[in-house]
Amino acid sequence: MKKSLIILFCACSLMACHRTLSPEQAKQQFIDSLLREMTVEEKLGQLNLISRGDITTGKPRESQSAALIREGKVGGVFNLKYVYNVREIQRVAVEESRLGIPLIFGMDVIHGYETVFPIPLALSCTWNPEAVATAARIGAKEATADGICWTFSPMVDICHDARWGRIAEGAGEDPYLGAEMARAMVCGYQGADLGDSATMMACVKHFGLYGAPDGGRDYNSVDMSRYRMYNEYLPTYKAAVDAGVGSVMSSFNTINGIPSTGNRWLLTDLLRDEWGFRGFVVSDYNAVEEMINHGVADSLLDAGVLALKAGLDMDMVSDGLPGLLPALQDGRITEKEIDAACRRILEAKYDLGLFSDPYRYCDSTRRERDIFTPENRQLARKVAQQAIVLLKNDNDLLPLAKHGTLALIGPLGDVKTNMAGTWSVAAVHQQYKSLREGLADALQGTDATLLYAKGCNLMYDAEAEHRAASGKHAMRDDRDPKQMHDEAIRMARQADIILLAMGEASEMSGEASCYVNLEMPDAQRDLMHELATLGKPMVLLHFAGRPTILNWENDHLHAIMETWFLGSEGADAIADVLFGDYVPSGRLTTSFPRHVGQLPFSYRHMNTGRPVEGDDFDQYSSCYLDVVNTPLFPFGYGLTYTTFRYDEPTLSQTVMQTGDTLYLRVQVTNVGRRAATETVQLYIRDMVSTAARPTQELRGWQQVTLQPDETKEVTFAITKDVLAYYNAQLRWTLEPGKFLLMVGHDSRHVQTTEIEVR
Ligand code: BGC
Repeated sequence: MKKSLIILFCACSLMACHRTLSPEQAKQQFIDSLLREMTVEEKLGQLNLISRGDITTGKPRESQSAALIREGKVGGVFNLKYVYNVREIQRVAVEESRLGIPLIFGMDVIHGYETVFPIPLALSCTWNPEAVATAARIGAKEATADGICWTFSPMVDICHDARWGRIAEGAGEDPYLGAEMARAMVCGYQGADLGDSATMMACVKHFGLYGAPDGGRDYNSVDMSRYRMYNEYLPTYKAAVDAGVGSVMSSFNTINGIPSTGNRWLLTDLLRDEWGFRGFVVSDYNAVEEMINHGVADSLLDAGVLALKAGLDMDMVSDGLPGLLPALQDGRITEKEIDAACRRILEAKYDLGLFSDPYRYCDSTRRERDIFTPENRQLARKVAQQAIVLLKNDNDLLPLAKHGTLALIGPLGDVKTNMAGTWSVAAVHQQYKSLREGLADALQGTDATLLYAKGCNLMYDAEAEHRAASGKHAMRDDRDPKQMHDEAIRMARQADIILLAMGEASEMSGEASCYVNLEMPDAQRDLMHELATLGKPMVLLHFAGRPTILNWENDHLHAIMETWFLGSEGADAIADVLFGDYVPSGRLTTSFPRHVGQLPFSYRHMNTGRPVEGDDFDQYSSCYLDVVNTPLFPFGYGLTYTTFRYDEPTLSQTVMQTGDTLYLRVQVTNVGRRAATETVQLYIRDMVSTAARPTQELRGWQQVTLQPDETKEVTFAITKDVLAYYNAQLRWTLEPGKFLLMVGHDSRHVQTTEIEVR
């Protein structure tokens, strides 16, 4: 680092040590002095986030990117892997640029690093914030060992529409559960000390409402009332902010006509003024420039002005903010506005400890010690076990005994590249087991035989398959389809049980992977139908990054395990649950519709003036006439290898004043033969309020592990915050009146009690 910067830093820290300054004052004094040294061009440079680009294609220091960094025109670089690359580029910034300001290194560390955890949607199905925090903590530990100190995670966009491929990246449809997961992730990544070399700065995204695009089509517009935003879509971002998230990413979409990236209400009035956010805001990829396509700016310069004035601090790749000099010269922006953005980025670097040691995350000995270690993999396997949701299990077919002949059939049965799931930037697929390998390992030393046949391609249309796999993980088989099919039927005939490894390829969900057909892809569907005619027990091990339509499967197969994309240890985790070494505990965090025409769908809907009760339709009520109106699998649903009995819940009192705490208690007993974990869920309904409220809202849950015949009492404290909502004036309020409290196994299987708030 440049000598002057070191002296400055040391002086400020020294004064802080001698208690003439508080740490916060020392930081501000350091940044004030630095800002005084900086030219406007250097300040604008800090607002520039570039992708790894040409850094990895040749010698890092000789790249075009390095040249820009040398001139002080870059604030950060993203998706650059390995300490060697990061160190080289950091050296250019701190030793060869005029002021030696270190770069921040970001990456999409979304669900782990080389040890890959389940995709976020699956993570949320653990209903276990501790497990989710573990995924984030290990992701941070591994990423920081490779030079990265900033992750573009958590994604907390609430989504009701499975057509949207990015539903895979969030925690499902519920704001309460989503907020818990958001908090867990931020705490997992950032730990207690951002300056610790094993923690990293989180970035909550995509702010805001990106999960509610019209028609479930990625990047599409969002139109929404503030009432709905505050109650349903904003709580997750707010939870991340309350947990101290260091950065926020603005989203691609418009909100009521105004792009998020140039939306002053969103980025300043709400985020900073109302919620008190102190970190910095980065745009999504090229989102500043895309404001021209949105039709709110005529040029990149106009877009940059809009973004800066709205409260954006850093520009991911589009050059809108870094190119703002002409706007300063023509008076459309002020240096004060540039300073405010630049300051926030410098503060983040300061908090990460980059000014005290720019190579803090560049310890090359850590890779060996911290990345893809047996301990990390063991944790990932445990979390993956908890993420699996058992959707069907007729006659207790599962768990399977480890003997007899099992035929594993399907195009996803032996593909290592499919295990990690979308957004696994740092994955090393060849290190991971395919499902076939995981099952074979689990059966080693037993008298069971495992047969395998691919049976078919993902879909008939090769081009569509190539698109579905994003061209990345080609798994197309060029063999004659009839030959593949016959081989599968032959094997199935020899088997006692057929295991289907079918569903989506990992890149069929995630960014820009939207589909209107959510049923089993055609080639797999046909093979599955034919295998069913053999009359053997069939278990679907279903790979997907979204809720899909599983009507036929539910009617014809004996067991269905939703295995999502479980990450690097997914194959072992599936085997663990399949053979009963782990008793399934996962629960859905998103409803599974019966028909794509039901979308968008959420269990958490308003009643309407003409509600429909249960499954049946009713003319002149709010329903479709050609489909059963409930979901196939409801929110909160998931089976296990035992049965739980709920006694009637009791209340400590039935009337409460707004400041009171009331206790709801319920006894839960394991009446089956296996120890298992139950997720006891609490829902509320506000029966009369000044604005209409949903028929059910999750407001709490607890997990209890029960041995056979064991009973535990679960207690929920009912306080103002459990019952309150944002009223039409957007005030968090508890209005007196009648409330229903529902407690049970999932959103459909609940017992209801009633209280009155006075
Ligand atoms: C995605 C973000 C991601 C960014 C950087 C964008 O296309 O929307 O979620 O963080 O790219 O890779």
